[in-house]
Amino acid sequence: SDVRLWGARFADGPAEALAKLSASVHFDWRLAPYDIAGSRAHARVLNKAGLLTEDELNRMIAGLDQLDADVADGSFTGTVADEDVHTALERGLLERLGPDLGGKLRAGRSRNDQIATLFRMYLRDHARIIGGLIAELQGALVGLAEAHPDVAMPGRTHLQHAQPVLFAHHVLAHVQSLSRDAERLRQWDERTAVSPYGSGALAGSSLGLDPEAVAADLGFEHGSVANSIDGTASRDFAAEFAFITAMIGVNLSRIAEEVIIWNTKEFSFVTLHDAFSTGSSIMPQKKNPDIAELARGKSGRLIGNLTGLMATLKALPLAYNRDLQEDKEPVFDSCDQLEVLLPAFTGMMATLTVNRERMEELAPAGFSLATDIAEWLVKQGVPFRVAHEVAGECVKECEQQGIELDELTDEQFAKISEHLTPEVRAVLNVAGALASRSGRGGTAPSAVAVQLTEVKADLAVQ
Ligand code: ARG
Repeated sequence: SDVRLWGARFADGPAEALAKLSASVHFDWRLAPYDIAGSRAHARVLNKAGLLTEDELNRMIAGLDQLDADVADGSFTGTVADEDVHTALERGLLERLGPDLGGKLRAGRSRNDQIATLFRMYLRDHARIIGGLIAELQGALVGLAEAHPDVAMPGRTHLQHAQPVLFAHHVLAHVQSLSRDAERLRQWDERTAVSPYGSGALAGSSLGLDPEAVAADLGFEHGSVANSIDGTASRDFAAEFAFITAMIGVNLSRIAEEVIIWNTKEFSFVTLHDAFSTGSSIMPQKKNPDIAELARGKSGRLIGNLTGLMATLKALPLAYNRDLQEDKEPVFDSCDQLEVLLPAFTGMMATLTVNRERMEELAPAGFSLATDIAEWLVKQGVPFRVAHEVAGECVKECEQQGIELDELTDEQFAKISEHLTPEVRAVLNVAGALASRSGRGGTAPSAVAVQLTEVKADLAVQ
């Protein structure tokens, strides 16, 4: 049956090539339950405005409920000929209620305000799903930190040994960035809790409908849009969502890169669980960190989804343009990718084992305690400029002799500087270096314990 929405003005139906180009039902069908929810709300405001009788409203709602059930069990689906989800569901309603009643629902709304509303509803649901998955990953990372409260590792800058840090401190750094991602999702949701329904094609409706009632009906806590042109034309909510999901991908990629490095023979800091790593078809000895690599790879894809959408929006005149149909696939893809990636990533982090001996062997290597010599000298009243020089001399001497700092003799220390008395040895061990950094945010076990308590309290209220 031909249910083209604009039949009367056209002598001919669309060319097949146009129909193929135009069709979005293969990707917007996932919005069907939201479209039906919008239709129920719209039917109620048509009734309030005196445009549907009580009886018509009841039959309309029953028809929509039936359609909802048929969509859910797969007995009703959209086709390419329907073009998009809205048109397909209109056909479904007409089939169930007949043209007289079914044809009344379109009054006062447009696919332009429908799609802007449904897209927001879908993304708000998925912001919650992704937020929950992030909390699970944070839980796994917190578990890793809690299980290793006293393991030291080489902290790095420029990927070079810098200063020893607690492994738990390092892991909690990733928890912090994920907390900001979760917060971004919550703040985005606040901004997105405004309904465009009632904006019509762009100008609003002459039928006396109540957009605020529709907004309340559909769970938009902050009411309906202030400007119908903005309501139908703006997609910054989608771009911002694409940014947040890309940022999550980038943050995951940074954890992933470390897991990949830690898992090498050379580092041997961690061992991945068999269930969360893969083998090689030819090399029997291989155990590969594929989950981490897919996270690293997918972060590029998530960035692509963001930049593609931004390019689509750039310089687009108000109000609705069909270009905007290109907004959904990238953002849906960002949801889909994170929703398969995060559970696997969480499993990988929750099950990896930490090679404490190897981390602690390397923690003091590479002269990572040189800063401690300099700061010890400062506490003896030596200006930091001089202290830095003296500690640098110690490193130079060690490099020449192929030894570590704590292997310098008392005589060698004294030769480098009169200030370097044997007491300096007190700071030339990892435990002392860690414990001394006890200020807020520092790597001392006491400071990391405070951070852990704060993080757990935050996670409990999220
Ligand atoms: N399918 C369209 C989209 O995704 C919504 C329909 C608006 N189409 C139109 N010709 N006004 O943006």
